[in-house]
Amino acid sequence: MHNIILDCDPGHDDAVAIILAGQKKYFNVLGITTTSGNQTIEKTSRNALSIVEYLDLDIPVAKGASEPLIREVEVCEAIHGESGLDGFEFKPLKRSFDSRHAINFIIDTLLNSKEKVTLVATGPLTNFALALKLNPSIRNKIDRIILMGGSYQMGNVSPASEFNILCDPEAAFIVVNSKLPIYMITLDVTRKVLCYNSYIEQIAKINNKASHLFVNLMQVFNKNQKEVFGYDGAPLHDPVTIASLIDENLVTFKHVNTEIDLSHGCSYGRTNCDIFDYLKKEKNTYVSIDINVEMFFKIIEEAIKSYK
Ligand code: BDR
Ligand code: CA
Repeated sequence: MHNIILDCDPGHDDAVAIILAGQKKYFNVLGITTTSGNQTIEKTSRNALSIVEYLDLDIPVAKGASEPLIREVEVCEAIHGESGLDGFEFKPLKRSFDSRHAINFIIDTLLNSKEKVTLVATGPLTNFALALKLNPSIRNKIDRIILMGGSYQMGNVSPASEFNILCDPEAAFIVVNSKLPIYMITLDVTRKVLCYNSYIEQIAKINNKASHLFVNLMQVFNKNQKEVFGYDGAPLHDPVTIASLIDENLVTFKHVNTEIDLSHGCSYGRTNCDIFDYLKKEKNTYVSIDINVEMFFKIIEEAIKSYK
């Protein structure tokens, strides 16, 4: 059983991460916190709370950073649409947000927890960076941070950089250099888990509320990924974080030095992961190297089936 806080910016693939995290047999989700990223903070927060309400999950949702530490907000409308979750219409919300800002929510929740907590990030790292700076004593309560972000090969928003890291490279720098155990799920593995239409059709047969959400979202996600990147199946980036906690054999990690490029040049936001240890620098991250694709899609299917 993992105690987790999930910080996210839903986002189609973030939504799938929430479906996975909602399984009580694996997770005690202490809260979901939100950040701007795929859309504005208002939209990603409303999306997160709507998913939680729709799936009838008993999880508090706290609204977080509306903008990165230094950069301007840049949303990802080409992939996630105007709402941030194009493809699914939720009913008007009945639930409310936790009254605390996500950063205070994270700090309070960690300090009040008897057990250590795993922090999971599927969006830009602004909230986690600010929480660590505001109250460094939370470090003692953090088991590890597992984040979707970066790439040791090519990027997806610039030749060098991945979206979550480039949204807030300075925040990523703080997190990666926190000396906490950092697990990075990079594009190098998430580009291997492509959600083809045949898989969407297979999931449609489950015919429950989670499958309806998944199918509607993935149809739009696939179409947009095809238009922008030419992929026949959308890479399911974010759920790899949660899935890697469900089965620790899913992802192969390598302990390496990672440097975040803060140069403001063409490689701004690049995660320079020293896979071959050229630089002999301190190893600060566990970087994803490989993934068991078949196991991943079984984990997704099992999660969707667990909803009534
Ligand atoms: C990341 O960017 C976002 O658009 C996705 O939700 C994912 O977190 C992939 O680069
Ligand atoms: Ca995301």
